[in-house]
Amino acid sequence: MTTTLITGGTVVNSTGRVLADVLIDGEQIAAILPPGSVLLGTDLSASVDQVIDATGKYVIPGGIDAHTHMEMPFGGTFASDTFETGTTAAAWGGTTTIVDFAVQYAGEDPLTQYEAWHAKAAGKCAIDYGFHQILSDVQPASLQAMDELVAEGVTSFKLFMAYKNVLLSEDGQILTAMQKAADNGALIMMHAENGSWIDTVVQQLVADGKTDPLYHGISRPWQAEEEATHRAIMLADYTKAPLYVVHVSAKQAVAQIAAARDNGQNVFGETCPQYLYLTLEDQLGAPGFEGAKWVCSTPLRSKAEGHQDHMWQALRTNDLQLVSTDHCPFCMNQKQMGLGDFSKIPNGIGSVEHRVDLLYQGVVTGQISLERWVELIAVTPARMFGMYGTKGVLAPGADADVVVYDPNGHTSIGLGKTHHMNMDYSAWEGFEIDGHVDTVLSRGSVVVDGGQFLGRAGHGRFVKRDLSQYLV
Ligand code: URP
Ligand code: ZN
Ligand code: ZN
Repeated sequence: MTTTLITGGTVVNSTGRVLADVLIDGEQIAAILPPGSVLLGTDLSASVDQVIDATGKYVIPGGIDAHTHMEMPFGGTFASDTFETGTTAAAWGGTTTIVDFAVQYAGEDPLTQYEAWHAKAAGKCAIDYGFHQILSDVQPASLQAMDELVAEGVTSFKLFMAYKNVLLSEDGQILTAMQKAADNGALIMMHAENGSWIDTVVQQLVADGKTDPLYHGISRPWQAEEEATHRAIMLADYTKAPLYVVHVSAKQAVAQIAAARDNGQNVFGETCPQYLYLTLEDQLGAPGFEGAKWVCSTPLRSKAEGHQDHMWQALRTNDLQLVSTDHCPFCMNQKQMGLGDFSKIPNGIGSVEHRVDLLYQGVVTGQISLERWVELIAVTPARMFGMYGTKGVLAPGADADVVVYDPNGHTSIGLGKTHHMNMDYSAWEGFEIDGHVDTVLSRGSVVVDGGQFLGRAGHGRFVKRDLSQYLV
């Protein structure tokens, strides 16, 4: 077993920061020690297998991205990152655990699909991974499957209020899934957009010849997000199910979530980096077909309406609790399926490599504290999805998933070649980051260091998750 000592850094958890050394024994953290590497009179740096000098740097728990879609079959094609390429890119960016989605499309058997997703990921992942289960047409067999999946460590289920005939669940189906979740303790994750409303506007726009990528955003107004968020909250209130609203982009949806929380409901909200930085005007509205790069749902919102600033505010005030990427990348030839009809552009943006850096900019600009950054990228996802203690914290006994982050470093997000996601462009091209992911350890193994990838496909293990640690 390899022993590692990370010396001289500032260890940051959500509870505070301290100058300390981190001793790792094998796959776990053995001790957080006063700086100086001395234990019972022994100079540890002389007796361990490797020493990582973190002087002047932050030592933080590895990032947990709780919303990714590797290899997802979607929009007539597949998300372009495999479990291997996507988890490798994640590691480059300081993420050491992902929670991806096994998908049950209408008519399919959830447990068969769950096994199929295990087969895709097994032996491929460079970092640890768990699964949520997507349920579309909720049938009696789906409800039984929910119990079996919770026992397997799949303790969260995503439902869709949009994408009719593909993924959408009717309200009555959502109701029964929520009743089951209220019973077995699982968390319901909701894609909250009014699908029927959107489908009608899409038809109208396309019939009017309004087919550019910008109209993807126009066809999915904030009112359709607010309405669906409210409906999901009402269904959750009635059934007493805990609810986690994914990829929130509208400030009005945030208000619905905040009101439900004030009302005492177990309702939580996630946003994504794209809704903090990118806009309908600047990205979706880019000339020609360029805007296709940023077609995702919920859509990028109008800068003039102030949604982006409101997302930062909500992260600061805890009206929103965490930031995941909704990583669902497509190459340009895949996006071109929607040339001449925005509704055929596969929905999704690739960001799994950049979430830790992009959120760190909130610290640089004074929007969130250093501790809140760590909370948003690692601690809350661990607690929300039943991994805290093993993941999401630097403490004795936790997995040694550790990132050494240099606040004085710099990261330029450039063209396709400079990132590691399987995409031939970057949705984040031109972003300059104050800060740099220097070293990444996954369960005690150095997987990224000195600008080199040292990990391997198959190192990552399936994480069997507990029930959400936010629920009593
Ligand atoms: O555009 C998106 N979000 N693509 C992935 C599927 C989903 O709804 O999360
Ligand atoms: Zn979604
Ligand atoms: Zn998603």
